[in-house]
Amino acid sequence: MVTLTIDKKQITVKKGTMILEAAEKAGMKIPALCADKRLIGFGACRMCVVQLKGKKALIPACFNPVREGMDVITNSPEIIEARRAQLQLILAEHPLDCPVCDKAGECQLQDLVYEYGVVDNPYRMKRVQKAVERLSPFIERDMNRCVLCGKCVRICNEVQGVGEISFLNRGIKSYIGTDFDRPMNCEFCGQCISVCPVGALNSKPFKYKARVWDLENKTTICPYCSNGCSLVLGIKDNKIQRITGDYDIGINEGNLCSKGRFGYEFVTNPKRLKKPLVKRNGLFEEVGWDEALGLVVSRFNEIKAASGADSICGLGSARLTNEELYLFQKLIRQGIGTNNIDHGGRYQGLLGLRESLGEACSTNSLHEIRRANAILLLRADLNETHPNVRIEVNLAVNRNRAKLIVVDNKRILLSRQAQANLIIKPGTEVALINGIINQIIMLELADTTFVNEKTEGLAELKTSIEKYTPEYVEKVCGIKPLDIESVAKAYAEAENACIIVATGMGLVGNDHDIACAASNLALLTGNIGKESCGVYILPEKNNSQGALDMGIVPGFLPGYVPVDKPGKGVMNMLEPDKLKAMYIVGENPLLTYSLTNVRKSLYAMEFLVVQDMFMTPTAEMADVVLPACSFVEKDGTYTNLERRIQRLKKILPCVGESRSDIEIFIDLCKRLGCEMTEDVQQEIKASIHPHFSFEDWKGKFIPVECVGIMSADDGLLLVSAPSHLYSGSFGAWSPTLLEIGEACCEISIGEASRLGIKDGDRVMVSSKNARIELKARVSPDVPDGVGVVHLYPTMNIMCLFGKEMLPINGNVELLS
Ligand code: SF4
Ligand code: SF4
Ligand code: SF4
Ligand code: FES
Repeated sequence: MVTLTIDKKQITVKKGTMILEAAEKAGMKIPALCADKRLIGFGACRMCVVQLKGKKALIPACFNPVREGMDVITNSPEIIEARRAQLQLILAEHPLDCPVCDKAGECQLQDLVYEYGVVDNPYRMKRVQKAVERLSPFIERDMNRCVLCGKCVRICNEVQGVGEISFLNRGIKSYIGTDFDRPMNCEFCGQCISVCPVGALNSKPFKYKARVWDLENKTTICPYCSNGCSLVLGIKDNKIQRITGDYDIGINEGNLCSKGRFGYEFVTNPKRLKKPLVKRNGLFEEVGWDEALGLVVSRFNEIKAASGADSICGLGSARLTNEELYLFQKLIRQGIGTNNIDHGGRYQGLLGLRESLGEACSTNSLHEIRRANAILLLRADLNETHPNVRIEVNLAVNRNRAKLIVVDNKRILLSRQAQANLIIKPGTEVALINGIINQIIMLELADTTFVNEKTEGLAELKTSIEKYTPEYVEKVCGIKPLDIESVAKAYAEAENACIIVATGMGLVGNDHDIACAASNLALLTGNIGKESCGVYILPEKNNSQGALDMGIVPGFLPGYVPVDKPGKGVMNMLEPDKLKAMYIVGENPLLTYSLTNVRKSLYAMEFLVVQDMFMTPTAEMADVVLPACSFVEKDGTYTNLERRIQRLKKILPCVGESRSDIEIFIDLCKRLGCEMTEDVQQEIKASIHPHFSFEDWKGKFIPVECVGIMSADDGLLLVSAPSHLYSGSFGAWSPTLLEIGEACCEISIGEASRLGIKDGDRVMVSSKNARIELKARVSPDVPDGVGVVHLYPTMNIMCLFGKEMLPINGNVELLS
């Protein structure tokens, strides 16, 4: 720690803290245009200049670290004059079009000019009017207002790891732009907008919607991925006008991705369902809630009496709150009397962790990733699946010099930062990890003390990995023995190494075995139970972790209490003619499940209830449709990927007569005779008993084999790739979001020339399960022999893969 004095106040801060941050901690404000807590000091604007007692020189506070005994002055006549002069220089080139600038009211330049009373300006510069770029869907760039603080460039590079924009030209000709001044073509996270201190970068959806002082800011949790970012909703006229992040609220330090920042259009989409609907003679009729719920209960009771409770099933959604999920399983289990309940969460990876490590959740917290020394990304294209986990990886690589090992079927954006890029044959992740384990044992790199004290099953593991010699693994995965050895060393020799695996409905592979293999590797090297190590199995949706914890599965009650007679899971519920009635909440299996016979199964149901915000293709098949609220119209909690339970509050009134899922469940539970208590959260607490103890904890090695390695005889081996705007079919109701991605099939340059396909051609992609017309993307990132299909919210691309959800042989043909 370092003790210093700032404006006569003594303060003790951590070594390495910059003066700017130390002053803030002491409650003093130093003006700063180019500084941001998420970025490394840059010293571009010189607004933060301060003096050291007894010295004349002015030094930037954002760029100079504290030293023991330092005596800092933040406001002297020289300092004030220097700041005024700096503002005058900026204003000499600034258009001062504040009345029409969206930033007015929160523009840092405007505030500083006002604070320092800059009414005159001795500097005159001839301004060259630059064209405003309005081509991208979300971002408008007006470089006339740019003050060259560089924050947009730095956040895009340092934090996002994208590097879409940079400083172009030199000296007074400098400006911020893209290569060759082309329109922006990035992931449109809007992080650059969020740091811009002036109105040079603007959110297009927010433009001219409201003056910022008219907004009422309300905080809630993002409804998309499991990172669980906090959102600040700017509300006016009972509508979300914009979404921003706040460094001091939640876990995301103000960082948001395109979905979190711009994907809110669905809330105000005019297609939201507003009244309960009942199908009569093939047509939907609007009815009251009492009639709709009365019909649901009477039909469920009739079917139960005629065919038994096990002829009915419930399919829930990982987008519901914990309280809603708890009540949904109560309704299905107690109200109807069956364990036929599931959700499309692909939770087998988390259950694999439970078998090996005792808990069905990632082992470490999110921010620990940035302090890891080595990171193994195992089938985890984080830019697409979990954008803010990707930030942690960037920070680890850029600021902690972590060694990044990327294992995927193609090059991903994070490959640019990786020390090793292992492009494996589809479906061979387990073989590669077993090969790495084999090498660690051979090279005697295992943590024997940890293994002896804290694990069991090493002998079985050793036997199982014997055959995974580097030569065998090369044959299976296509990775050279030397690369396997060097990755084994990089991982095992790191002080803190973590493994990150992404999961979700849009990813093919055996998640359970991948998780067990990852866990074996972590246990063998002692990378469990310490800071910045462990295994992260990233669930897909905002409350995927909660759905599992709340027992939305056929085999467990809330808190993982096993049931006597497990019911049918999602893959069996949707087998044609197996069940008579189904209650689907917030899921759209017709568009998102890999099953090919969903339509036939739903058609065969005697009674189908769908509860949703929209008339989805699945809802169109229902007998009763119940209109549900969105995430901003209800209270509750979500559990994020690090098992942090976060609260969301009702911010807006429900649309039409729609109700929150919890209200609907309470009503139905009562009508079905469930025992109800006043406080659902208390009920949840009482039914979930923490059972984890480090005292006698031992990790289990679970041997896993790489099975079903396929070879694409004459066609290609098809795999799916998540897309950052894909999140089930949810994103389909935010039309602007759809503009930043596309459904496509990515193939290598070699395959494209063999098949006579050019970039942008229409192709037919087929497997034994389905045929889909897609656009071809010819790319150097994909190896020969592989076709990577990219998901899109309005198309069911996963049906190519069928029930097994594994890489599959397929063909890609040019459409004439
Ligand atoms: S939107 Fe995101 S990725 Fe695109 S330039 Fe801005 S910060 Fe970079
Ligand atoms: S566009 Fe904004 S953030 Fe980027 S350099 Fe200019 S003023 Fe700074
Ligand atoms: S990273 Fe995930 S939780 Fe965060 S804003 Fe994006 S979608 Fe939402
Ligand atoms: S904030 Fe320190 S130089 Fe800009």
